[in-house]
Amino acid sequence: MSRGGRREDPYGLSLRRENFNLRWGDVPYSVAPYVPSPVDVVKSMLKFAGAGPDDVVYDLGCGDGRILFTAVEDFGVKKAVGFDLNANLCSSVQQKIKEKGLVGRVEVVNGNFFLADLSPASVVTLYLTTSGNSKLKPKLAEELASGSRVVSHDFPINGWSTLKGDSQDYHQVGSHKIYLYGIPDAYDRKATALRSVEEEGRWRRIRDLLFRSDLRG
Ligand SMILES: C[S@@+](CC[C@H](N)C(=O)[O-])C[C@H]1O[C@@H](n2cnc3c(N)ncnc32)[C@H](O)[C@@H]1O
Repeated sequence: MSRGGRREDPYGLSLRRENFNLRWGDVPYSVAPYVPSPVDVVKSMLKFAGAGPDDVVYDLGCGDGRILFTAVEDFGVKKAVGFDLNANLCSSVQQKIKEKGLVGRVEVVNGNFFLADLSPASVVTLYLTTSGNSKLKPKLAEELASGSRVVSHDFPINGWSTLKGDSQDYHQVGSHKIYLYGIPDAYDRKATALRSVEEEGRWRRIRDLLFRSDLRG
């Protein structure tokens, strides 16, 4: 059952072996209540993330599974996997998977996503809380591969730069906000690039002011 330090779980997902040593409570538990994203917001999240046939989508806190089904049925992603603490929601998602004939394309895990191995995901969707996102941030940075995208409904990941990267760093969909992050640009190259462009602009303005006052004097 063991493969390169990983263990297979009954859903076919590998969970990190080291996490099995953690007592329940050593990792964050529920970080958001159940509130479903409106369908147009779900579609926009997946559209902005550029979800497509090469992607594996993980919805952390999947609720009724709407992001998972939309990702597979409307965006044709390879696979969609959801995690939720709510057993009732998970069993209704499981039922829907069977009814829709999507066994193997959509998976649901009734468990704490802080214990999951996120490395197979190329797109991660979130509708949690800002504090929940902050707790997830180091895990996302450690486990997601370069080129992955993280898309968050209404709650930003504080300290990360969105791909939109202008003064309004989110996409507005009705009254909802969508934050899109690229890995590793969110915490690495993009931030540095934006900072240097900003700094360059500031120095140019200072130089121009000095030059003009020099001409006057
Ligand atoms: C706001 S709902 C989002 C549902 C769905 N992603 C959507 O956008 O429609 C947040 C969900 O996260 C789940 N949740 C919160 N903390 C969790 C955790 N640590 N592990 C698994 N699920 C969690 C809650 O049970 C809830 O169903």
